[in-house]
Amino acid sequence: MSPSKPQAMLIDGKAIAQEITESLVHQVTQLKEKNITPGLAVVLVGEDPASQVYVRNKGKMAEKIGLHSVQHSLPAATSEADILARIEALNEDPSIHGILVQLPLPDHIDSAKVLRLIRPEKDVDGFHPVNVGLLATGLNDQALVPCTPAGCVTLAKHHRGDDLSGLEAVIIGRSNIVGKPVAQLLLQENCTTTIVHSRTKNLEQHIGRADILVACLGRAQFVKGDWIKQGATVIDVGINRIDAPEKGPGKTRLVGDVDFDSALPIAGAITPVPGGVGPMTIAMLMQNVVTAAQRLSKQ
Ligand code: GUN
Repeated sequence: MSPSKPQAMLIDGKAIAQEITESLVHQVTQLKEKNITPGLAVVLVGEDPASQVYVRNKGKMAEKIGLHSVQHSLPAATSEADILARIEALNEDPSIHGILVQLPLPDHIDSAKVLRLIRPEKDVDGFHPVNVGLLATGLNDQALVPCTPAGCVTLAKHHRGDDLSGLEAVIIGRSNIVGKPVAQLLLQENCTTTIVHSRTKNLEQHIGRADILVACLGRAQFVKGDWIKQGATVIDVGINRIDAPEKGPGKTRLVGDVDFDSALPIAGAITPVPGGVGPMTIAMLMQNVVTAAQRLSKQ
């Protein structure tokens, strides 16, 4: 009998996210005893099906842990002025502690302008330049930190333990939503942090150095197993829908940015897609709403 191949540990984002949301229920109860119900407003513009699913899931989880949750669904043709007016009203609404504008917005809307208008104390996505600046200067305790990046670090620690000092972290992708903030967080954890992207030379060499690899470039199954360092912690942020003829004609399935099957025998641990980073994003969002409510109630 041949010895069985080593297999990466699966990092169960769903279970870890559930632990986090369960622990939030207690904090929500404490706030309610002071007559504060943390409130989340999600603004969705247009009918992008993926965004609709994400927004529905955020609303469902908010209700499950006892938050006040409202959804503002606006038609794709809504003017920028109308969206800005909506944000201003939410900024002033005392029942709302967290405002999230689902991205991407339609092309005729200046997303940066919309995000800049959100009161930083209610910016539960952590995308306002004030929160970006607080994160970049290490003042996380005063910031609201972007949800997916915070989830990635929590998942990496699940495999590596709390001390990530000195580890090589390589992030594939440089988006404002994931790549840049996850690099900031890993730098603060004392990782030697590298961001690689579409113009990087010798991409595979960089990837091969990573003890912690965060794939957030948005290309299905881009990272191959033989690029990965033996034993690496692989955090796969990608959610890509691909054809799955093996499931039947016209069928599709979700895959990450990492080629899971070839990574499995090489990585030390890997997040599955779905069930890895996705549920953590929602848990961290709930955490940010509770944190925002706690801070705003002290002002
Ligand atoms: N679209 C994709 N990811 C995100 C996210 O984390 N927040 C918002 N608001 N929109 C997104």
